[in-house]
Amino acid sequence: MTNDLRTQLRGLPVFAGELPGFDPDSAPDEPVVLFTAWLRTAIEGGVPEPHVMTLSTVDAEGRPSSRALILKDVDGSGWQFASTSAGRKGRELAANPYAALSVYWQPLGRQVRVRGTVASAGREASARDFLARSPGARAESLAGRQSEPLTDLGELEEEVRRAARRLAAEPDLVPPSWTLYALQPDEVEFWQADAGRRHVRLRYTRSGAGWVRERLWP
Ligand SMILES: Cc1cc2nc3c(=O)[nH]c(=O)nc-3n(C[C@H](O)[C@H](O)[C@H](O)COP(=O)(O)O)c2cc1C
Repeated sequence: MTNDLRTQLRGLPVFAGELPGFDPDSAPDEPVVLFTAWLRTAIEGGVPEPHVMTLSTVDAEGRPSSRALILKDVDGSGWQFASTSAGRKGRELAANPYAALSVYWQPLGRQVRVRGTVASAGREASARDFLARSPGARAESLAGRQSEPLTDLGELEEEVRRAARRLAAEPDLVPPSWTLYALQPDEVEFWQADAGRRHVRLRYTRSGAGWVRERLWP
């Protein structure tokens, strides 16, 4: 069975479709500009869920954990994502406010890796983010307890119902743990697959007020 799986995995294609080019020599000075251009290409090209990325945090012992998240925005203040501060990622970010993000846009053969310091975007921005969420998503978050062991499904349903009633009565309510985080990068790498395995990699490393750009061996 194990061998069958190994053979099956080996037979799967990768970088199979038509891939775009990437010329690092004409890349912009700022990685956020290139990321935005690649993201727009992914959105306009119909890449499924192009705003889903993987966030990796580490605990106090340096042990990493990863999870998928939605990218809320990206601009001069960084790569933004929202979550409760009470779950694992929130606790880990409180203990070690340094994280890595990565995204893979499969039909384009493009990967971007970002790492840097994470901070809250502030109470006001976090509240705005929460209030823009759907009623169901707000009730789910207000019920809280994300990542706690779930032993009773009835309890979950009851808490979400209670949260929905509370939100109906207090539509401006924002749980204090809801946080819009911004990751301010000190390193961003753009990776473009090539069918002939001559993958193109460009790394931006922060240097003072600007960025150093260098190509990397594939
Ligand atoms: C596609 C996708 C998008 C997700 N988006 C978010 C998100 O924006 N915020 C969030 O807190 N969790 C999101 N989740 C759930 C997280 O992956 C994770 O289960 C949750 O945040 C708990 O993580 P933690 O225990 O490490 O804190 C998403 C999951 C998937 C599969």
